[in-house]
Amino acid sequence: MLINFASAGKSRQWLMMSMDKLHHHKVILTLLLLIHSSDYALTDKYLINSGSISDTAISTQYFVGDVDSCSSNFSVGESSRVVDDNPAPGTPFLYRTARIFRKQSSYGFQITQNGTYVVRFHFYPFSTPTNLADALFNVSANGFSLLSNFSVQNTSNPPVIKEFAIPIEVGIFMIYFTPQKSFFAFVNAIEAFLAPEDFISDGVSHVTPAGLKGTYNGLLSQAFHIIHRINVGGFTITPSNDLLWRSWTPDDGYLFLPNSANNIAFYGELNSLGAAANSAPDNVYKTAKELNINHSRSSIFFNMTWGFDVNKNSTYFVRVHFCDIISQDVDDIVFNLSIYNQFIDKIDPYNITYHPATPFHGDYVVDSDDSGYVNISAGPRSKSLNQTAFLNGLEIMEMIKRSGAYPVPSNPNKTLQSAPCKPRKTPEPNKTVEPAPAPSKPNTLTSKPKKNIFAIASSVVGVAFVLILIGVFMKCRKANSVETRECSVLLYGGRPFCRTNDRTADTSVCSLSLGLKLPFSEILHATNNFNPKVIIGEGGFGKVYRGTLRDGKKVAVKRRQPGQGQGLYEFQTEIIVLSKIRHRHLVSLIGYCDERHEMILVYEFMENGTLQDLLYDSSEDCSTSSPRSELSWEQRLEICIASAMGLDYLHRGARIIHRDVKSTNILLDENYVAKVADFGLSKSGDGDQTHISTDVKGSFGYLDPEYFRCMQLTYKSDVYSFGVVLLEVLCSRPAIKRSVPREEMNLAEWAISWQKKGQLEKIVDPFLVGKINPNSLRKFGETAEKCLRDSGADRPTMREVERDLRNALDLQQARIPRE
Ligand SMILES: *[C@@H]1O[C@H](CO)[C@@H](O)[C@H](O)[C@H]1NC(C)=O
Ligand SMILES: *[C@@H]1O[C@H](CO)[C@@H](O)[C@H](O)[C@H]1NC(C)=O
Ligand SMILES: *[C@@H]1O[C@H](CO)[C@@H](O)[C@H](O)[C@H]1NC(C)=O
Ligand SMILES: *[C@@H]1O[C@H](CO)[C@@H](O)[C@H](O)[C@H]1NC(C)=O
Ligand SMILES: *[C@@H]1O[C@H](CO)[C@@H](O)[C@H](O)[C@H]1NC(C)=O
Ligand SMILES: *[C@@H]1O[C@H](CO)[C@@H](O)[C@H](O)[C@H]1NC(C)=O
Ligand SMILES: *[C@@H]1O[C@H](CO)[C@@H](O)[C@H](O)[C@H]1NC(C)=O
Ligand SMILES: *[C@@H]1O[C@H](CO)[C@@H](O)[C@H](O)[C@H]1NC(C)=O
Ligand SMILES: *[C@@H]1O[C@H](CO)[C@@H](O)[C@H](O)[C@H]1NC(C)=O
Ligand SMILES: *[C@@H]1O[C@H](CO)[C@@H](O)[C@H](O)[C@H]1NC(C)=O
Ligand SMILES: *[C@@H]1O[C@H](CO)[C@@H](O)[C@H](O)[C@H]1NC(C)=O
Ligand SMILES: *[C@@H]1O[C@H](CO)[C@@H](O)[C@H](O)[C@H]1NC(C)=O
Repeated sequence: MLINFASAGKSRQWLMMSMDKLHHHKVILTLLLLIHSSDYALTDKYLINSGSISDTAISTQYFVGDVDSCSSNFSVGESSRVVDDNPAPGTPFLYRTARIFRKQSSYGFQITQNGTYVVRFHFYPFSTPTNLADALFNVSANGFSLLSNFSVQNTSNPPVIKEFAIPIEVGIFMIYFTPQKSFFAFVNAIEAFLAPEDFISDGVSHVTPAGLKGTYNGLLSQAFHIIHRINVGGFTITPSNDLLWRSWTPDDGYLFLPNSANNIAFYGELNSLGAAANSAPDNVYKTAKELNINHSRSSIFFNMTWGFDVNKNSTYFVRVHFCDIISQDVDDIVFNLSIYNQFIDKIDPYNITYHPATPFHGDYVVDSDDSGYVNISAGPRSKSLNQTAFLNGLEIMEMIKRSGAYPVPSNPNKTLQSAPCKPRKTPEPNKTVEPAPAPSKPNTLTSKPKKNIFAIASSVVGVAFVLILIGVFMKCRKANSVETRECSVLLYGGRPFCRTNDRTADTSVCSLSLGLKLPFSEILHATNNFNPKVIIGEGGFGKVYRGTLRDGKKVAVKRRQPGQGQGLYEFQTEIIVLSKIRHRHLVSLIGYCDERHEMILVYEFMENGTLQDLLYDSSEDCSTSSPRSELSWEQRLEICIASAMGLDYLHRGARIIHRDVKSTNILLDENYVAKVADFGLSKSGDGDQTHISTDVKGSFGYLDPEYFRCMQLTYKSDVYSFGVVLLEVLCSRPAIKRSVPREEMNLAEWAISWQKKGQLEKIVDPFLVGKINPNSLRKFGETAEKCLRDSGADRPTMREVERDLRNALDLQQARIPRE
């Protein structure tokens, strides 16, 4: 139950949330939501070619020789090097050399950033001149015993690669190799690099063979040995196809009943909301095993079950990867995931991701039993529309207990001694014999790959919604009473509720304790003391400034007129709403400031301004306007679809009514990706209630007539306003235009009259004339008309609107044969 907004300075924020918390079966699925905007870049990265004087590349990895290295940031303790004098043809250079330790010794790496590191050892037991298969040794690091009594005998498939995830702090990271008495230790290559921030989540459900035990906290300080990494329903994925150079193997060998499941594959694009890039490669999510439904119907198989071999009486971190690549419709499939048949978790992809083909994952800590297996099964739930289940990927990591019995750095703060730097050559010839003198050729390290493969180009990886509930605790005080109550805003996808009898949450003054608060000094710095030159907008609420935070992030700073008490409600509503919803098509809040009676909201900066500004020139009173847009019809449709997705999420995911949908509240980023903004008037559309009685707020020209008549606010009020926006997009004119004959003033009335005559094309933006496919226009016109129906009940949902708009886009692109 924790929400963890990283400070605004961080490029990445993530929230850990547990789901299903209050439900009878007490299942807690802890998942994480990852939000970030910038790429994952590596600072501390070591790839070491042990015992080699030269550097070598294996697929996309560049390993640096550790002999006479020019580097001052790692060191090698007392040891010798050995070079295979009879390598099999084709053996990679990386595996033709090794470092040998005849007594306890170490590698040391300079670490400049705290975090979880991926650490891999490569062992390739060549036999000449030293038979490395005779080695017997321990490896430990940071007080964790990584390998004990380890030897690489009888391996038919070298190299043997051992992978760990280890929490490491700034300083010198020492890896100790300790040979058993009268034996030696060796290693061919070492990798150590910082994993992405979201690699491990801290608190997850703790599952024992007897069922759920509670929450396991403190994973971030744990070390793990990766035991299984499975691409369910797919092929082997090699390190070069994984951002973190991981290998994924197929699941078939672990499935108990081969007939119980079928492989399925997806050839489309995964939904960009997924954080697939860091959790697992797309190819993991694009394949899956699905329950063999036919058999299931004839009651032979109720589920598909895998058994993964593990050590007895040990503890594992299990990450299960999902991506619904089956559903035609987003909420078709809900299924049970079970671990050891006792613990059952409900997996509801729609509820987690809101869209099909969106990757997500679930994390568990699992105690193993005496069987030597962890059993994982997936089977349908009776209430699911589609009686099936699926699984895309799985990782099992053994938790390594800390042990005091291992060497700790004698002087962790010492700096590493720089080895005398000698020139090196590359690649190394096969026949060099230990101890080879370093040849004195000029330094030729130019073969180094220039591209940093971690510069995941353009990867705004987006949002993995894998979670469900957050408790944000706020102290709320009713404006006109001294009663203080604790209300937990349960963010089940965003629905706030205060445990009080009345429904006056909107009149309460809440002092928020979210991690989004920014000091006033930071705001002054960002806006250059509210320099009038950086004003980008102005309205009744105050001014909007362009700014840059100290971390370089571009922001829009909305400052309410200082000193005025008005707008406090909207200010707080917006913070509450925005702090708990995250969506690609909703503008995100970066911070706020309420120091010194200021009411300042800081948003992500949207380079291309409002939709209205892109469509037409409009003076403030909307009395005059002229089209100016050069947006293509496709671009306009994309913008409408994106806005519809944002509103759909707001309605169904967060259960919030926007109340002020209009073209000035749809903003565009530098790629013309649309996001809905301004949640100051938003209201929770509380689950059971179909409407909320309220005073009329909103913007003239966009107001739902039903709302106007009945004072009842529903989700369909937003749909109405969105219908007006659709017409604005089509006609490039404001919702209300005063400089025209009376019957043309109100865009909705005027355009619908043309639509009813079947002549909508007569009023489209002149720029678009002749460029819209008639079928696409017809679909679009129908969609707008449906949105603008008099009675809310007759209007479509935002999801249906989104679908119709996609259909209009398909028709425009002639992806669908004409009707
Ligand atoms: C180690 O130092 C070398 C040069 O001294 C530098 O090129 C490399 O990036 C450094 N590596 C790390 C992980 O700091
Ligand atoms: C790293 O972690 C240690 C202990 O948790 C802390 O004292 C130190 O400040 C951290 N360093 C950085 C750079 O975050
Ligand atoms: C490792 O080997 C030593 C003897 O060489 C033995 O005492 C110890 O029990 C072994 N440990 C494990 C975990 O196998
Ligand atoms: C390796 O094989 C030899 C015989 O071929 C056997 O004696 C030894 O126990 C095996 N070692 C391991 C670790 O399996
Ligand atoms: C290696 O580890 C094993 C098991 O943890 C331990 O029994 C043994 O004493 C260690 N060997 C050395 C040489 O430290
Ligand atoms: C269902 O299973 C039966 C028996 O295994 C098989 O004959 C039939 O073809 C299957 N039907 C489908 C649609 O796969
Ligand atoms: C697991 O191991 C611990 C000690 O390592 C022991 O106390 C415990 O009884 C074991 N549990 C089982 C179920 O074997
Ligand atoms: C899976 O199905 C088998 C029978 O095929 C059943 O024994 C087992 O209990 C089921 N497991 C779950 C978790 O439903
Ligand atoms: C999502 O799950 C919660 C709890 O299981 C449920 O109350 C809610 O109705 C679900 N939402 C949808 C849209 O299915
Ligand atoms: C799915 O899990 C629920 C408990 O969460 C259980 O009541 C139900 O029987 C399970 N469904 C099947 C088909 O096993
Ligand atoms: C369930 O999904 C499968 C796709 O694997 C599809 O063939 C089937 O028609 C779906 N059934 C229902 C009831 O939607
Ligand atoms: C939209 O943003 C791009 C990138 O910043 C910029 O080149 C373009 O001029 C902008 N267009 C408008 C209409 O502001």
